[in-house]
Amino acid sequence: MMIPGNAVLSPSFVFQKKKNRINKNELYKSARQALFVGLSKMDLTDKTVWLPAYNCNSVLYPIKKLGLNYRFYEITEDFLPNFETIENNENDLILIVHYFGIVGDIEALKRKCSEKKLSIVEDCAHFLPSEDSEAGKMGIFSIFSLRKQLPVPDGGILQFNNRQLEEIKKTATAASFKKLILMIIESVCFKFQFNFIRLKDRLRGKVKTTEEFFAQRDFKKMNDASGLTKFIFRKQGIKKIKQQRISNFNLLSELLLSNTKTKLPVKRISSESMPMALPIFSANGLMMKDFLRKKGIGVDSWPGDAISDEISLDSFPITKKISDTILLLPIHQSLQEKHLKKIARAIKKYEHVG
Ligand SMILES: Cc1ncc(COP(=O)(O)O)c(C=O)c1O
Repeated sequence: MMIPGNAVLSPSFVFQKKKNRINKNELYKSARQALFVGLSKMDLTDKTVWLPAYNCNSVLYPIKKLGLNYRFYEITEDFLPNFETIENNENDLILIVHYFGIVGDIEALKRKCSEKKLSIVEDCAHFLPSEDSEAGKMGIFSIFSLRKQLPVPDGGILQFNNRQLEEIKKTATAASFKKLILMIIESVCFKFQFNFIRLKDRLRGKVKTTEEFFAQRDFKKMNDASGLTKFIFRKQGIKKIKQQRISNFNLLSELLLSNTKTKLPVKRISSESMPMALPIFSANGLMMKDFLRKKGIGVDSWPGDAISDEISLDSFPITKKISDTILLLPIHQSLQEKHLKKIARAIKKYEHVG
């Protein structure tokens, strides 16, 4: 069995028509670069940037590089900011993450931020720009990371809500050759149902990781998204992808609820959402992850090792609890009902033997 964690590229995409327009001023190599540029356009002297403790450390790089003051806040078990843990001054900035592309009550979030006089920046790294969703439109600017939902090697987007971005000088980026080869192998293995995930796990630590490719800790120059990303991105029908992901999410959720004992933090999602994955909680997260990956299912934990070592998890018990138990199940647009049924069956088997 082989159910990849991310959408795969089918060769027919080459013949598809263009579906998306790219605003070249908005495009970067990664979301973290987009965040760097967005923040650099603001005057944040004497202000604090409030970051969720539950996050990967990649968002810290731009904030540190810009020398900004920052503090962490706790989240709730349903992935929303716990505003009681934010002791802010007027006009401090809050980074709100739409975790796993699941969009909560935007109006309630806006109300809370306005009561606390917090300016909003949205981290939509797990989401894609979408006309029919309020996510990405509630703050000063939002950032997106294309490789989380699309079969592209890189790419980040920066969108300001009330201003056009002037052109900024960017260096051309070549797509990572390793990532490209991996994308091709994953697509072939998916077609022929060869468990490549097991092999990939054995190679872990021996080849450069995606994180190393994206690290860019120095941010000396800004990079454009690669030509390959632009080529693929133009041909992606975001609306259809969103519908497919929502329908896969809801179907897998139903299968799990009726056939297994799985704990789901979010059982059904709104039409505003564009799910990156289906989160579940498992007391022995790592054991279950290992079991499912050996079976060829691209399950992941988040943020895993990428949680910042500046965060003392004793002070953020919910972040700790979620980080220790969360697993992300694939529900992307390359999957059909038969794949989701296989995932549910594998989880049932794990419960039986585990
Ligand atoms: C929530 C979140 N924000 C920002 C980023 C940064 O995205 P990128 O890897 O495109 O820089 C990531 C992923 O690394 C992420 O998960």
